[in-house]
Amino acid sequence: MTVQVIQVDPIHPDPEYIRPAARALRQGKLVAFPTETVYGLGADALNRSAVARIFEAKGRPSYDPLIVHLAGAAWLERAAAVVPPLALRLAEAFWPGPLTLILAKRPEIPDLVTSGLDTVAVRVPDHPVALALLEAADVLVAAPSANRFGRTSPTRASHVLADLEGRIDVLVDGGETRIGIESTVLDLSGPRPTILRPGGVTREQLLEVLGDVAVRAVHSAGGPQSSPGTLRKHYSPRAVLYYFTEPEREKALAGMRQLIEEAVQSGKRVGLLILEEDRPVFDDLPVVTASLGSARNLWQAARRLYAGMRSLDEQQVDVIFVRDLGTDGPGLALRDRLQRAASKLIP
Ligand code: TXA
Ligand code: MG
Repeated sequence: MTVQVIQVDPIHPDPEYIRPAARALRQGKLVAFPTETVYGLGADALNRSAVARIFEAKGRPSYDPLIVHLAGAAWLERAAAVVPPLALRLAEAFWPGPLTLILAKRPEIPDLVTSGLDTVAVRVPDHPVALALLEAADVLVAAPSANRFGRTSPTRASHVLADLEGRIDVLVDGGETRIGIESTVLDLSGPRPTILRPGGVTREQLLEVLGDVAVRAVHSAGGPQSSPGTLRKHYSPRAVLYYFTEPEREKALAGMRQLIEEAVQSGKRVGLLILEEDRPVFDDLPVVTASLGSARNLWQAARRLYAGMRSLDEQQVDVIFVRDLGTDGPGLALRDRLQRAASKLIP
């Protein structure tokens, strides 16, 4: 299968270029497209065989449920059995945007989409290309991130091709994604709103609307009750990733430097995911770096994280070193992804 790549302007996508991609979705084909978070691999959510092909293309286990993408909050009734007032308030505050809500599902949503759960994940992506595609197709679009299972999510069309060329029908190339990490998954199906996966909408932002929100800790269980988000090893580069969890900067940097020196001495090719402020500490060492931008703006780090891992992999490093960046704003989501990407957590 050769993939049809369609280049579109990310801000003003030409409807003429969106139309063939929308038609492909309606015909049950697999269409990768940009969202504000990462690229998604979309299929008509009500078409079982199309959805089955998503799992096949990604090599994704069927116990890992998919997010259903909507063109607007007005589509909520097409996917959710009940739309609680709280969901509407959150939709008002954060949609279109990187917030996924878990709600009771309508019976029409296939079990394959929800891994047999009686809930469905829904969100309205904040990207002109994704919205134009959803509106033109006029179908609910189930879309996980457009990467092979277990790997980092794609933030550029080239990442999608690297993972899925030959396995998908259409790739809509709308350039680099703006947020770079996945949406926040918020469970509204229980008594207390709970963040299942931190992401593009921060805990602080949710607190402003909700007053109270729980955060589910990373754990290692599998099976239909736990999101892949909860699989310990996920979102991984190929290289061995050493994640320094020490919160104090000076201590973390000293520990990193020591292990990097040892790795270099033992002949390893070393990669660093690094904040600009930390760079001088490693200036004299033979390391390959990928910048996470400035410590003053962790949104930059979020945008660059996955592309940085991919670029270090391409430069064939054996090991990657990175340190914890706190829990403020996008820091919580970054910590979550690093915990899962890591082969080794260094205290
Ligand atoms: O930003 C994003 O969310 C991207 C873009 C493409 O929208 N999508 C994405 O999808 O990251 P995926 O499949 O890689 O991650 C979906 C997450 C998983 O953690 C999954 O377990 C959770 O959503 N999820 C889906 N349905 C669920 C449900 N019914 N209950 C609990 N978690 C659910
Ligand atoms: Mg994913």
